[in-house]
Amino acid sequence: MRQTMERPFAGGEFVMSDMTQPMQVIGVGIDLIEVPRIARMIDEHGARFLDRVFTPAEQTYANASPVQRAQRFAARFAAKEAALKALRMGLREGISWTDIECIHRSDGSPMLALHGRAAEIAQSQGINAWLVSLTHIQDMAAATVTAGRKDLKKVDSQ
Ligand SMILES: CC(C)(COP(=O)(O)OP(=O)(O)OC[C@H]1O[C@@H](n2cnc3c(N)ncnc32)[C@H](O)[C@@H]1OP(=O)(O)O)[C@@H](O)C(=O)NCCC(=O)NCCS
Repeated sequence: MRQTMERPFAGGEFVMSDMTQPMQVIGVGIDLIEVPRIARMIDEHGARFLDRVFTPAEQTYANASPVQRAQRFAARFAAKEAALKALRMGLREGISWTDIECIHRSDGSPMLALHGRAAEIAQSQGINAWLVSLTHIQDMAAATVTAGRKDLKKVDSQ
């Protein structure tokens, strides 16, 4: 996902672009996770763990790669934790793991879709756009998440 930093707002806020629209940054989050930790949770708790944490679409995507299955689950777990950090909260206030879903564009680049309580909280913070990047190797997976507001009127009025 190409992200370009554009011009700053007065007052020190920055505007980023996800190729088509400027975005005011509201929060950022990062998370690093050990893949064997997630593999162990899957081995020990199976579908009970998977269904509590990952949406059906996330499970279908991860299961499609037997070699990278645990890495993909771990990267998505990291994305959920990174998104909670970008919202400046942990897993509380009624948020479920499946409220934060990692989906994909046709080119394979990831996107976040929020549902339920997480979507309500994001909306209350003025967040209407997300940028996410994932990476994983055999034993480690990581995600960065940026929460923002696309508000062209505000940008145009600067
Ligand atoms: C897309 C690409 C950057 C992924 O990098 P990678 O080192 O192979 O793998 P990483 O673990 O760092 O990243 C994988 C994640 O990148 C994300 N991704 C895939 N395509 C993407 C794209 N077009 N844009 C942004 N992110 C993308 C996915 O979320 C993927 O994780 P997932 O499979 O769990 O969904 C890489 O495959 C690529 O195309 N590189 C271009 C250069 C190249 O071809 N190098 C190889 C020869 S030197």
